[in-house]
Amino acid sequence: MTEFEQSNWSKAEFSRDYLDKADIYIVQRRRMIGIIKSFFGHFLRVQCSKRLLDLGCGDGIITHELLKSYGSIAPTLVDGSDDMLSKAKERLKGFKQISFIKTSFQEIILGSAHIGDGYHLIVSSMAIHHLTLEEKKALFRAIHRSLHQGGFFVNIDVVLAPTGQLDGWYMRLWEEWMDEKKASLGIAGGDPTDIIKRYKTLEENKPDLLEDQLGALRETGFRNVDCFYKYGIFSIFGGAK
Ligand SMILES: C[S@@+](CC[C@H](N)C(=O)[O-])C[C@H]1O[C@@H](n2cnc3c(N)ncnc32)[C@H](O)[C@@H]1O
Repeated sequence: MTEFEQSNWSKAEFSRDYLDKADIYIVQRRRMIGIIKSFFGHFLRVQCSKRLLDLGCGDGIITHELLKSYGSIAPTLVDGSDDMLSKAKERLKGFKQISFIKTSFQEIILGSAHIGDGYHLIVSSMAIHHLTLEEKKALFRAIHRSLHQGGFFVNIDVVLAPTGQLDGWYMRLWEEWMDEKKASLGIAGGDPTDIIKRYKTLEENKPDLLEDQLGALRETGFRNVDCFYKYGIFSIFGGAK
């Protein structure tokens, strides 16, 4: 059994729970997607078709949101889960020129899976924190190789708080977000602290410091490396080739 197959993401009910509740679980999820769209509009909006790679695509929400605003995109979506890929195929069935690749990040790192190259933008959302820091560094190198010169990598992900004190506050911020979001949607029940406990205890969550990841991107050769947005542990960061 591969490492991915041993993780919760290979279980259909785990994926379904995430997809049903992602707007509650992920702080400012819609805002973060809006920032990715703004990034694309600012740096990549031109007439010719742009190649996009969505790593850990889930049900394809990031690609879908970009396609709705910018038609001239040729996307490739990658995920380790058959279930997620079939949801992405269903979601994107009205669009043309879309490729899907079933593979794990570990296979990409090992070079046993090919994700193509010449991408103008590689995005990932809430997926790379499942890798160790060494694996993240190796994936950043694979991403760099797969980018067109001048192309961009943008990652929405959770990061490790630099101190225990900050971590305590970031968890409180997260809990407050989930309470507010549920109230605004009129949803009762469910304890946000259960989600936080699950995040903290699941072995497959391996968040690393933002600074270490920005450093790894710079070491890999990325330019214009920065954190583009941050709210507690939820962040958007990346750079250009
Ligand atoms: C939290 S979901 C995010 C999905 C989507 N990007 C979003 O923002 O809604 C994480 C996704 O990453 C995929 N994933 C997790 N670990 C992976 C790995 N090691 N290799 C490939 N895909 C992985 C899961 O199957 C899942 O679809």
